[in-house]
Amino acid sequence: MSFHVISVGCGLGSSFNEAIKRGHLFVPELKNAAIDKKQCLGIDKNDKFALDIVGQGHEFMCRDVAAEVEAIPEADYILVWNFLEHLPDFKSVTQVVHEVLNKAKKAAWFRLTNFDWGPEGMGQWTLGAINLRFAWYSQSQHTVKLKTSELVGLVKEYNLLFPGRNAKVEVMRGRNVTATDDPYIIPNTSPTDTKLYCPEIEEKYGKKPDVRFEEPLVANWECVVTFEGEQG
Ligand SMILES: C[S@@+](CC[C@H](N)C(=O)[O-])C[C@H]1O[C@@H](n2cnc3c(N)ncnc32)[C@H](O)[C@@H]1O
Repeated sequence: MSFHVISVGCGLGSSFNEAIKRGHLFVPELKNAAIDKKQCLGIDKNDKFALDIVGQGHEFMCRDVAAEVEAIPEADYILVWNFLEHLPDFKSVTQVVHEVLNKAKKAAWFRLTNFDWGPEGMGQWTLGAINLRFAWYSQSQHTVKLKTSELVGLVKEYNLLFPGRNAKVEVMRGRNVTATDDPYIIPNTSPTDTKLYCPEIEEKYGKKPDVRFEEPLVANWECVVTFEGEQG
């Protein structure tokens, strides 16, 4: 069975609409790709999303891909958005990334929540200096703080294992954050699993300084892998 678009860790499935509407900004061939909703498959370990996905006209498959990585079917485009950080460990991330690259015919699109630490990370480094953090930096569900450079390393590793595919990765800025008023920026002392800045957080952990960033911070990195060679 082969699909047009698969979303791994699909949740409510907003990735399908976004990929159809503005996916061409990152994957140019998506501009003219006529996507049949029935040819879109959402995979999630939580079957509570089945009704939403099927209600939007797509197919749904309930699977824990960490336990059954080979269950991911083939597709032209595979979306892996805000997902890899939920896997149990780096070994599992490696297995899922390599399987997605094996199963994607045209492109694999990873959206990485920015966990990069260092001036080049354009995120947590800058916030840490003013006693703030991205809310997602400390969430118990985020078991792997995957860096962009680590994903790029996994694509290089894949090319050594499957040299015929010649996978190329392009890393692009996703959402930009221009000032500390972004609701996902919270005081560094806020407890683990704080999701957003809100009046209670302000009252308990202090008001955020009002800072504008000359160079916008990056909330998400879009990492798009395309292939010059055929699937094995
Ligand atoms: C943060 S949500 C991302 C949802 C969607 N991709 C998006 O960007 O809006 C992560 C999703 O991954 C699912 N998930 C976590 N671990 C999983 C696993 N091992 N196998 C399949 N789904 C998993 C969760 O149930 C959740 O729906």
